[in-house]
Amino acid sequence: MAVQNPGVDALKREIAELKKQRGAVIMGHYYQNADIQDIADYIGDSLALARIAADIKENVIVMCGVHFMGETAKILCPDKTVLEPDPTAGCSLADSCPAEEFEKFVKAHPDHTVISYVNTSAAVKALTDVVVTSGNARQIVDTFDKDAKLIFGPDRNLGNYINSVTGRDMLLWDGACHVHEKFSVEKTVALKEQHPQAKVLVHPECPQPMRLLADCIGSTAVLLDYAMKSDSTEFIVATESGILHQMRAKCPGKTFIPAPPADSTCACNECAYMKLNTLEKLRDCLRDMAPEVIVDDEVAAKARKPIERMLELSPKK
Ligand code: 13P
Ligand code: SF4
Repeated sequence: MAVQNPGVDALKREIAELKKQRGAVIMGHYYQNADIQDIADYIGDSLALARIAADIKENVIVMCGVHFMGETAKILCPDKTVLEPDPTAGCSLADSCPAEEFEKFVKAHPDHTVISYVNTSAAVKALTDVVVTSGNARQIVDTFDKDAKLIFGPDRNLGNYINSVTGRDMLLWDGACHVHEKFSVEKTVALKEQHPQAKVLVHPECPQPMRLLADCIGSTAVLLDYAMKSDSTEFIVATESGILHQMRAKCPGKTFIPAPPADSTCACNECAYMKLNTLEKLRDCLRDMAPEVIVDDEVAAKARKPIERMLELSPKK
């Protein structure tokens, strides 16, 4: 029998009650703590969360993810209240691309179309022609002519990957995610030797040496789908470890092994920002109707176009 935790159960009941009172919906990313994943009404990768937000009926959205996900929901639903349990939940990748610097880069290449990864601030999206996620970047880049001049920011690893699979030579911003850069190729190779049957699942935010080990490269949703459909029973997973909760839940009987970070003294395969959200903070934000995600109207109006263009260019199959 599952061990009951009265504190957690009481919190979950409180959250369910407040959610009803507020007419709210809880959305969560796959990197969230397991308790939050279990209580969320919708859970998904960045693309799914944006698509769901665009169509949501409820007037209050609690975005359990990181700040750019809350901003994307707010930009798509300006009349709704978007809450975030912890407003300091940022993203090292988004931080690696300050809007003022990106604007100079864009202005230095005026004949280029600007493609930005969704892991960016609203201000960077406002400088962008089309937004992409790791779930649709290839599909969207393929809609441009082979000789189109393209800028891709901010993730150099995802940009390199998309260049390699689409045969492009996009100009890349030199940003990266601190979690996905930290996996150890040597330790992953050693793990694969111990588990020769294991399939290796790699997020495209990882550098090329990690990607070369992969049986599947894709967004969190793509990796989860691969694990569910695969005949294999063992998987080595090179992305933030929160996804393992969902993989284990959806694939009973299969074994998921987190790829080891280079520095074993820290939990480098955890996103410290994603893990800032807790059930207590989720309860508090529903109780207080704060912190609320606010995006400047002018910035939001400019950022909405490239996000909507993304949704048009990658319709749900
Ligand atoms: P996904 O869109 O694959 O869920 O990735 C989001 C993210 O932040 C990866 O680090
Ligand atoms: Fe950003 Fe990396 Fe965390 Fe994803 S895992 S939210 S890219 S810091």
